Order: sequence, then structure tokens, then C-alpha cells
Amino acid sequence: MTADVISGGQSIHAPDNLKSLLESILQQALTVNDGKVADYIPALAEVKSDYCALTVATLDGKVTSVGDSDKCFSIQSISKIFGLMLAMERLGDPLWERVQMEPSGQPFNSIVQLEWEKGIPRNPMINAGALLVSDVLVSHYSASKSALLSMVRGLCGSEDVAVDSRVHESERTHGARNAALAYLMKSFGNIEADVEEVLDHYFWQCALTMTTEQLARSLAFLANRGKCPRSGAQITSHRDAQRINALLSTSGMYDQSGQFAFTVGLPAKSGVGGGIVAIVPDYGVITAWSPPLNSYGNSARGMFMIRELANHLGLSVY
Ligand code: DON
Repeated sequence: MTADVISGGQSIHAPDNLKSLLESILQQALTVNDGKVADYIPALAEVKSDYCALTVATLDGKVTSVGDSDKCFSIQSISKIFGLMLAMERLGDPLWERVQMEPSGQPFNSIVQLEWEKGIPRNPMINAGALLVSDVLVSHYSASKSALLSMVRGLCGSEDVAVDSRVHESERTHGARNAALAYLMKSFGNIEADVEEVLDHYFWQCALTMTTEQLARSLAFLANRGKCPRSGAQITSHRDAQRINALLSTSGMYDQSGQFAFTVGLPAKSGVGGGIVAIVPDYGVITAWSPPLNSYGNSARGMFMIRELANHLGLSVY
């Protein structure tokens, strides 16, 4: 027996035996050994490299997981989605005068393009863009951290989401590159708040920890035209959900976004903690986690698992 789910006008063949499909993909992923755990932030380097998890949360409320889906990991750059949501809501269209919506084609922490382009980051999914978004949050919320944390807890329906203070501190002590990006933007007049406060917010949000299940539940609204499938609450407008998905499609996997679109075909975001979230419009969310990263900063096993699953189920949006 199989169930058909409609996505983008197409019917997705969703097998009843999803769990065994995920299990078989996870077992294959465990043989992928070509990544390296991020070590430029010492607290991340301590995470065991053999953790591996895969979760699918569908819009009918079912959550199917295999592997280490109960373990919390550092969501790192995946937090850029949450920060962006708050900034879009608070600033509206003027946000797009301060950050562009173009792919950068550069590594996520690159600085060269930022000077050529006069302190306007290419998109909110690279570090410069996320620092700009952090400036908006620090400048427009009296308590930007608690605003973000309560939003994330509400989205995934769990108070367990927390911040790893060791990772936060480790980011801060090894954050020279991010400080350079933020001060360069300040020199162009594109950062309003105190730079140290902006950096602190950014490092803090990178240190949020979640499980693959929490992450999948929290972003289900992006697969559902902005509406939370559990509560029916409109989290963002349909237009903003489309815009976030568009940014994830073009920039969410850094300078591997083109390859990801070509081989997988889903809006997605990765983080150097080894997590990846992929949005399947009108179907649900896939999350994967395994710490070893490829040379672009994307989880090697996570990429493998999402690609295998998307190809097997025919999930590409293109
Ligand atoms: O800015 C940094 O260095 C990190 N804490 C976050 C970067 C990240 O996850 C980029 N991702 N692939």
C-alpha cells in the first residue's frame, strides 16, 4: 500500500514503509567516510563523527526517524532561517535594500565580495547576510535572543530547545572572521547597532541545539505556504514562505547550492554542525544530521541521505 501526496501539482509516491526506506539509506550513508568534522570552532570538533540521523515530517503530522534523531546538535547556520523570519516580519521590504537575494558563489565566510559590493551582503544565508539580519534583530527587539528562542520553541512545540553555552563561547573566541565582516559592513554604514552586540547575537543563535525531529517540525510551515500544519496558525505570509524557499534554493547550501539544485532539487539549508534541512513543498520536511563535512561545509552523509531519498521518492520541485 502506498499513499499519494500532492506536491507542486505533482503526485508524490509516499511509501507506507518509509521507515525501512530511511533505515536502508542511513545504513548506506554510514559507509560514506569522506567528510571531516568542523574543527575551526573547538567545541564543534569534540562531537563524535559517527552520529547519523534522518527524519521526515509530513504535513499530515507523521514524523518518521531513524538513527540518532533524539540527540541534540548545534544547528549553526540553519539558525539563519529563524533570524531571517523575524527580520522579514519586523522590517518588511526595506530589508532588501540592505541585503541582496543573489547567490554568492563564494564560501560562506568569504569577505572579498563584501568590499566590492560596498557592505551589502549577497544574501541572508551567508555569514555577512546573517550578521546584517542579526543587526536588524538587535536594533529592533529589546531582547532579540529571547524573541528568537521563544519563536523556535513555539514552532517545534517543545521547550527543550536550548543554547549550548560552550559552543557560544567557543564561537566568540574564534570569531575573528565574523568580526571582520561585521566591522566592514559598519564602515559602509550598513550596521546600525554596536558591532559586539550584533556578533554576540549571531554567535548565540548559531549555538542553538535541536534534534532532527524538532527541526523538521519547526520548519513544516515552509512546506505548507507559511501555515503551521499542526496548529493551523499562519507563521509567515504565503509570499514570505515562497521568498524564504527561493533563498534556500539559490543560497542555502552555499557555493554547492547549484549542485544541490541539480542533483536534489529542493530548497535546503545546512550548518557546520552537520545538519541539513530540506523543504518539500506541500509534502513536508526532511532533516539529516551527521557531523563530518565536505569541502563546502555541508554534511557529507547528510547530502547523501537527502539526495537518495529525494531521488527515490521523486521529490525535486523542478
Ligand atoms: O559563522 C560561523 O563560523 C559558524 N558559527 C556558522 C557557520 C555555518 O554553519 C556555516 N555553514 N555551513
